[in-house]
Amino acid sequence: MIYELNNLSASDMYPFHMPGHKRQQTASLENNGGSDWLNEAYFHDITEIDGFDDLQSPKGMIADIEDRLAVLYGAKRAFLSVNGSTCGNLSAISALVQKNGCLLADMGAHRSVYNASFLSGCRILPLERETMPENGLTACISPEETEDRLNKAGKEGRLPDAVLITSPTYEGFISDVDKIADIVHGYGLPLIVDGAHGAHYTADEGTCFPVLSSKPDVTVVSLHKTLPAMTQTAAVLINGSLVRQDEVKRYINIFQTTSPSYILMASAERCLDIMEKEGFVLKKRLRENLDRTYALCKSLRHIYFTGPEFAGRYGIYDHDRSKINVMDRSGHMTGHKLYDIFREKYHLQPEKAGDRTCLLLTSVMDTEEGFQRLGRAIKELDEQIA
Ligand SMILES: Cc1ncc(COP(=O)(O)O)c(C=O)c1O
Repeated sequence: MIYELNNLSASDMYPFHMPGHKRQQTASLENNGGSDWLNEAYFHDITEIDGFDDLQSPKGMIADIEDRLAVLYGAKRAFLSVNGSTCGNLSAISALVQKNGCLLADMGAHRSVYNASFLSGCRILPLERETMPENGLTACISPEETEDRLNKAGKEGRLPDAVLITSPTYEGFISDVDKIADIVHGYGLPLIVDGAHGAHYTADEGTCFPVLSSKPDVTVVSLHKTLPAMTQTAAVLINGSLVRQDEVKRYINIFQTTSPSYILMASAERCLDIMEKEGFVLKKRLRENLDRTYALCKSLRHIYFTGPEFAGRYGIYDHDRSKINVMDRSGHMTGHKLYDIFREKYHLQPEKAGDRTCLLLTSVMDTEEGFQRLGRAIKELDEQIA
């Protein structure tokens, strides 16, 4: 797609079609900003013209992207979304839960889960996630909790239509998805995993990070959150036999625009190019940088990265160290204070602040320099705390 968009832009084909910008700028803008970075995007932004396939019913270059996504994650089938995991969750739930039916879903699931319930009239049975008193973060759904809830629902004769869990969570806590899938399937039900924050768990050879479980029937991942892809790109991965692929695709087509951005789709292709060719090396680099940064943190008195120590407790199977939850264990600095200092003093923009922790997200695209700046900042911060 990137290659074809380049060829088109270089050709003399005149665009008597959408979008209305016609791949042009007005004279005033050309004078002002001939080298404007946005010009480049306009120049390559097209609609579904001949030779550029159709996201609603892909058969060419978009089908190729979806096939490559399926291979990257070891899934039976993958669908591309340019409307994020939001569209993926809405579609998976709509496809698997009957109108006015019931979904067993973790408390604190993303708003798209509740919006899907609002649209279909389905009821949400909550799966409890504990809040960890040590850091104030929300933990995971355990296999035991899932089994208990399904057992109880079965006894009451009100089994849900499907189960949805979030793994990894925003802060990187991972559930025992394999075990949970076995339990859910034992009741003859499909499992949806909202894996929006786990797109980097690709199934490449010799991977240094966990690989997404292939047991859930549908897994939704936001490519844009943790991989080198543009905001809004996501993939819906289909594996199980309890889901109809065509039904999921029908709902993706309902929730997704009929005018998908080729810039976004091209960025999904670029992401695949990078991960297929360099994924292993980039992941190794990230792991080494994380090893060094976590080791440095261990030598500090107050600043602490909370997460990995909870594996095996609170329903947590594992923790994704690429999500760095910084905490001052002396309690002097709140998450919000840490956030402000990272931003204002060190010019490091965190992802978010909580009451006690401040979340910094890393990815395979982080540089050595970025990690060094973070290392210096946490060392200095630690020294400042009395
Ligand atoms: C757990 C979870 N699921 C789904 C989404 C939606 O993802 P997207 O922004 O790709 O639509 C988010 C967004 O933050 C999320 O945190």
